[in-house]
Parts: sequence; C-alpha cells; structure tokens
Amino acid sequence: MKEIDWSKLGFHYTEPEYIVRAGYHNGAWEEPYATKDKFLHLHVSATCLQYGQEAFEGLKAFRGVDGKIRIFRWRENAKRMAQSAKGLYMASVPEELFGKAIRLALKKNIKLLPPYGTGATLYFRPLLIGTTPRLGVGPGKDFEFIVIPSPIGPYYPGKFHCTTFIVNRHVDRAAPLGTGQFKVGGNYASSFRATEPAHAQGMDCLFLDARHHRYIDECSAANFIGIKENNGQIEYLTPRSTAILPSITNNSLMTLAKEKGFKVTRRRIRLEELEQMSEAAACGTACVISPIDKVFDPENNRIYPLTDNPGPILTELYHALKDIQYGRTEDRHGWCEVIEYENKKMKN
Ligand code: PLP
Ligand code: COI
Repeated sequence: MKEIDWSKLGFHYTEPEYIVRAGYHNGAWEEPYATKDKFLHLHVSATCLQYGQEAFEGLKAFRGVDGKIRIFRWRENAKRMAQSAKGLYMASVPEELFGKAIRLALKKNIKLLPPYGTGATLYFRPLLIGTTPRLGVGPGKDFEFIVIPSPIGPYYPGKFHCTTFIVNRHVDRAAPLGTGQFKVGGNYASSFRATEPAHAQGMDCLFLDARHHRYIDECSAANFIGIKENNGQIEYLTPRSTAILPSITNNSLMTLAKEKGFKVTRRRIRLEELEQMSEAAACGTACVISPIDKVFDPENNRIYPLTDNPGPILTELYHALKDIQYGRTEDRHGWCEVIEYENKKMKN
C-alpha cells in the first residue's frame, strides 16, 4: 500500500484494500463478507440503475488520544438507512448486520485508520442498492448492502475556517413531501445543477424550501445552524422542514448546546433572519461544523455578513463534539463504540 500523507487528505476517495458486502435474496440477508473486488456484476436492468433504488450513509471512525478507536453513533446511521430503505421500498439492513459490516470494514482496513492528531478520519460509506432486473416500473426484491471505507480529511479545504454560501432559487433539492428526508443518491444528482455552478464560483449552495422559496432548508450536503444572542441568552436555531435530512451531527450538537445552557429551537427560519444571527454554519458528518462567513443572495444582490472567522459559540460546540469523538472527554451519552486495538490485533 502507498504511504498516505494524512495531513494532505481532503474529502476524496482513497481506494481501500477491502470493501464489505452482503446480499439480500429470497427474503433473507447473507452474512457480510470482505472482498478486495471493487466491481459489481450487476444486471443492466437492476432497479438501482433503472429506477434509482439506492440509499447511502456516511459515518466515521476516529483514532483517539488514548489510542482506542471510536465509531461515532453508527446505530443512528443504521436507523436512518432503514428509514431511507423504507422510503424507497427496499429491504432494510438489520442494525446488527450494519454494525458487523462496519466493524469488519474497519478491521480489514485498519492500516487506513489515520493516526491521532492528523485531522483525518476513516469514513465509511454504506450503500444499499436494488439489484433485481426489472422493466416494469416498481421496486425489486433483491438488494446489495456494501460498506466502502476511505480515509478522509476535511470536507471543505483548510482546517476550521469559514465558507461562503449562495442562495439558490432555481433548483429545488427535494419537494416538501419528497425524498429530502432520506439519504438517497437521487437527491444529490438532482441538485448538481445548483451545486456545481456554486462550487465554480468558490461557494456552496443554500437551499430554500421548495414550496415558498422563503425559508432556509439546508446547506447542500449538510444541515443549517444559526446562532442568535439576546440579552446574554444564546439561541441555537435550526430549520424544521419535511424536506431535509435528519442530521446525526445536528442532533448531537443540539444535545451539547442544551447542556451548555443554550436555548435550542427547531422551526421554520426565514432567509432574512440571517440578519439577526451572530454566527451560522453547515453541519454534517463530512463537514463537522463549517462556519459561514457570508450568504450571498443573487436574486437581489444582497449579502448577509456573518463572521470572517469561526465565531465563539460554534467553535465551542465544534470542540465539544470533537473532544468526544477523539476520547478527550467523557462520552456521557454513549455515542461512541470503543474498539481497543493493541499489538496490531483487533480485540472486538
Ligand atoms: N443533509 C444532507 C443533505 C447530507 O447529505 C448530510 C450528510 O450526511 C447531512 C445533512 C448531515 O447529516 P449527518 O450529520 O448525519 O452526516
Ligand atoms: C456526510 O456528511 O457524511 C455526507 O455524506 C455528505 C456528503 C458528502 C454526501
């Protein structure tokens, strides 16, 4: 295996040695197994290719300050994948099988787990696809669950810094009662028309609600957080919408924010409310917390300035979350599955 310069990794694919697979046929899942083969022998009429029967997840394992490995909240990813599967009429991957596959992918690719202090992590991309050949429109009955591990660095280049967002009104990422709450590939392909031009301008996309184009829905592949401060009371605001992905990072940050005595509010947020926010950020597994320096609304050539550098509240929350993931503080919520790895042998 090629030497990896961990500090230079971005959010890019590094070929793992093994992936993990399990098929679903005749109503039953097979045991997950590791394979070096990264190619599928897939029927050209498989429902994933023909009708987009596909869902995925994203989660991370961290090498802690104590040398132990921590997999962050994988059960929540398993639950969300089960929701996505239900949403697309696919067989759900049982939670224990999901966990087994992640642990196996970690064990077989342990050399790809970045050392502590490099800022890089081992990202897992669980994938669920429909494999039944079908021409008539409808769901298949065969599925493949795959876990693809890859070491990654920061989602947005640079360490902890700010990103600019551009308001989008020309493309709807997901309809109010569509698939936005599920993590399915179609949501991403359908938003490339908005995200690619934004990236070309050095920005990322802020999606508004599809019905009114008035309320903040989400950042392109992350949830939105805004911070307001009123007479010393700090408020953590995040959108309520049927079209956005229930982010596990956002859920964790809301818990941490409440513990710090902040008011946590989930409601519809008008775009203009950005004016009253002292800080704002995108949050997700890949980007953790990515503070926003400004939001540009091209419709009326308006700029909502936020913070040039990460603000104090979001910085505090960022460190609180990272401290748990890297084992620098007590994991009071039991969010991490700890795996001890000594003498080059996995214990669990
Ligand atoms: N929203 C979208 C559209 C995403 O793709 C992601 C990434 O998974 C998130 C939000 C953040 O979710 P999580 O924190 O569970 O990674
Ligand atoms: C994540 O945050 O884990 C994601 O999967 C977002 C994106 C890279 C699809």
